[in-house]
Amino acid sequence: MKKSFLSRMTDLGKVKDRAAFSDMESRIKKHKYGSDAFMNILESRYSCHAFNHLPVSASKLEMILEAGRMAPSAGNCQPVRIWVVKSEDALARLRTIHPCYNAPVVLIVGCRNEEAWVRESDGVTAAKTDAAIVLTHMMLTATDAGLANMWIWDFDPSKIREILPETKDHGIYGMLAIGHPASHEGNPTKLHDQRKPLEDLVKEL
Ligand SMILES: Cc1cc2nc3c(=O)[nH]c(=O)nc-3n(C[C@H](O)[C@H](O)[C@H](O)COP(=O)(O)O)c2cc1C
Repeated sequence: MKKSFLSRMTDLGKVKDRAAFSDMESRIKKHKYGSDAFMNILESRYSCHAFNHLPVSASKLEMILEAGRMAPSAGNCQPVRIWVVKSEDALARLRTIHPCYNAPVVLIVGCRNEEAWVRESDGVTAAKTDAAIVLTHMMLTATDAGLANMWIWDFDPSKIREILPETKDHGIYGMLAIGHPASHEGNPTKLHDQRKPLEDLVKEL
C-alpha cells in the first residue's frame, strides 16, 4: 500500500531526519536521497564559534560570492548587496562592535526595501527574505569549499553603518564569518545536534 507523505517522512526521519521526495526510493535504500554531495554539505555545516588565523583563498572567496550572486530573489529584483570585510583595517573596525569569532573574512549582507518586490496583498517587502537566501547560498558554498562559517545576526545594524560608512544606504541583514576552525573551540556546539522531531515541524493537512 502506498504510504502517506507524512509517514514516509517519519520513516526517513528515523534514517537521518530528512524530508522525502517521491522519486527517491533507490537513494533512500542507500540511506541517502537527492545528491549525496549536497546532503554531505548540509550534514557537515555547523556554526563555528572560533576561527584560527589561516586565510581564505581568493578562489574560494570568489566561488562563495558567485553563489550569492546566483541566489533567486522575489521578482528577480536582486535588492541585496554584499560587503567583503577582509582588510586589517576593516576587520579591526568591525571587531569594535562584534568579535566575529576572529574570522579572517566576514561578509556583510545588506538589502534595500526600495529595490525589493513588494507583495500587493499586505505591502510586505521581500528584501530580508532575499538577503537570507543569498546568505544561505554563501553559507552552504563555504561549507562545500571546506571552510568553517558562522551566521551572525546578533549585532546593532546602525553601528555597522557607522563604522563602515560604505554600507550606510542599506539595511544590514546579517553577517557570515568565514575561515578555518580553531582547534576545540571551533567545533560544533551542543545546539548543533538539537532539532525538533519531524512531527513537530511538519503537519499534513
Ligand atoms: C538567522 C540566524 C542568526 C544567527 N545568529 C547568531 C548570532 O548572532 N550569534 C550566534 O552565536 N549564533 C547565531 N546563529 C547560529 C545559531 O545559533 C545556530 O545555527 C544554531 O544554534 C544551530 O547550531 P548549528 O548552526 O551549529 O547547527 C544564527 C543562526 C541563524 C540561522
